Amino acid sequence: KKILFVASEGVPFIKTGGLADVVGSLPKYFDKEKYDVRVMLPYYECIPARYKEQAEYLTNFYMDYMWQDRYVGLFKIEHEGIPFYFVDNEWYFSGAKPYTDQYFDLEKFAFYSKAVLSALPVLDFKPDVVHCHDWQTGLIPVHLKDKFRANPFYRDIKSVMTIHNLKFQGVWSVDVIQRISELSDYYFTPDKLESYSNGNMLKGGIVYADKVTTVSNTYAQEVKMPFYGEGLDGLMRARSHDLWGILNGIDYEEYDPAADPFIYQNYDARTFRKEKGKNKTGLQRELGMEVNPKKFMIGIVSRLTDQKGLDLVQAVMDQICTEDLQFVILGTGDEKYENMFRHYDWKYHDSVSANIYYSETMSHKVYAACDAFLMPSLFEPCGLSQIISLRYGTVPIVRETGGLKDTVEPYNEYDSTGTGFSFANYNAHEMLGSIMYAKNTYYNKKREWNKIIDRGMAKDFSWTSSAQKYEELYSVL
Ligand code: ADP
Ligand code: GLC
Repeated sequence: KKILFVASEGVPFIKTGGLADVVGSLPKYFDKEKYDVRVMLPYYECIPARYKEQAEYLTNFYMDYMWQDRYVGLFKIEHEGIPFYFVDNEWYFSGAKPYTDQYFDLEKFAFYSKAVLSALPVLDFKPDVVHCHDWQTGLIPVHLKDKFRANPFYRDIKSVMTIHNLKFQGVWSVDVIQRISELSDYYFTPDKLESYSNGNMLKGGIVYADKVTTVSNTYAQEVKMPFYGEGLDGLMRARSHDLWGILNGIDYEEYDPAADPFIYQNYDARTFRKEKGKNKTGLQRELGMEVNPKKFMIGIVSRLTDQKGLDLVQAVMDQICTEDLQFVILGTGDEKYENMFRHYDWKYHDSVSANIYYSETMSHKVYAACDAFLMPSLFEPCGLSQIISLRYGTVPIVRETGGLKDTVEPYNEYDSTGTGFSFANYNAHEMLGSIMYAKNTYYNKKREWNKIIDRGMAKDFSWTSSAQKYEELYSVL
């Protein structure tokens, strides 16, 4: 079978979050004998030059879009055995970042969705399944059932819509969404692309895709409830027969403490007791914190947004920081959280380090250095950070929601089970309770603590089993 992944980001070319990890690494793990998986991404100006140098220019064509002839260039990079195609258009894909937060993004990805489908005959690649990811590609399943259907080339192409985050839907007024999607009035009713009197691109994908998936089982259940449904819970219930929850994995080659080139000291499940601590002291030195291998160190690597539960952290930040521990934050996002962490870095300089930037290298150092990783999300479709933490022997402290619930097993001191610490309610003091419990276990029951790490490092969240589930999904289309 031929599969085409279509998304707005993918590692190693362009990444703002977990979506890129999934799109860039999952394709490698399909059975190569049976599946020809390729990926399509925008050819952003901000893709690093070292990749652009490898890009092979294929061809270009002009596509009618919003009453103009638009240039569509096509490039290709073969990366780790997977063909990545890139759609080029200077007007839409220039700039320092892939997203701009404005109307422009909607038009950009509406253009992109049409360009991707138009490019297929030009590339002479006819996929059996177009696998779309998030709102940026939501119009593709609609187009496949609409204007492209007239052309026999497209008629039997199936589509899958994977929801990585239901919060972002690509919403604007009906007339704007209608203009940029070039769809007729027929589509703008509440059972199709209209939602609460607006036009909604992701909704189009969910209504028209042959199958819909989300990135964990628990999130697939949660989105059918008003609290997590982001206004689309009714639709998710309506489509529940075609809705699958398939848990993400991580790239075990990229995230491997035994071979990671970015960290101070490599280690594995047998040697972490002796070696992991060198990553802590290395990081303490690099960040100008008190150097002390015994100090309990908590880390956060995250987009700094409301989704990640940072208002809970903010509410008890003074209590956390006056405990016998160190706290390292790496992230960018909402200014209110960036400044909050900067403030506490200033206030508790020896024990708090706020690193308000994006760095792949530093993220690996933090995962390897910390004893515990804090992720108290309000909602979490899957979450990769806690999975990376488990792989690095860094004990997750999470709220029991979405993929966090499906990947972190709560520690039970009576029967000596569990891989992390967790709490159920979205409540700052419940979170603080879990942090204190973790801290006390670390200081007072070090053998128990190490066994939690043993169990966490023994878990397997590589892509293999998820890829098999996607194969199963493609086979029932
Ligand atoms: P989300 O996709 O919601 O942001 P995930 O946990 O699925 O959350 O994935 C986040 C990914 O982005 C992880 O690979 C994490 O390490 C990475 N990441 C987040 N913030 C930063 C940062 N400031 N620097 C480097 N990597 C980051
Ligand atoms: C989204 C979600 C995150 C998930 C990632 C990859 O960004 O917020 O939970 O892990 O997509 O699927």
